[in-house]
Amino acid sequence: MPSLNPRDRTAPLLALDAIADGGFAEVEVDLDGDAESLLLYRDGAAVRGWLNICPHAGRRLDWAPGQFLKSKDGHVVCAAHGASFELGDGLCVAGPCKGESLRAVPLTVRDGQVLLA
Ligand code: FES
Repeated sequence: MPSLNPRDRTAPLLALDAIADGGFAEVEVDLDGDAESLLLYRDGAAVRGWLNICPHAGRRLDWAPGQFLKSKDGHVVCAAHGASFELGDGLCVAGPCKGESLRAVPLTVRDGQVLLA
């Protein structure tokens, strides 16, 4: 599993090509001294990221590390109780935390590598 050296926030998280367009990935990073799992979503040449923590009950969204559910409507679905989140802004549009949002983590893509912004 790719990981970020906690002392080097400029280290790549993973290669853009490691994520299928329209697909997901999970990486472990050190954010302000805390190990955090991130959900990454690739949209063409861009990658968006959120903490892999559901606002409903604080569970991980993936059913196994890096295995995220995507609905036919194009939402990521929490594996715990089925909350659905938009992949543009992380807003929950259905389920037990409707109206709440995933916590975004700013990312950038440079030279084919995904990095913390
Ligand atoms: S923890 Fe995600 S829907 Fe309950």
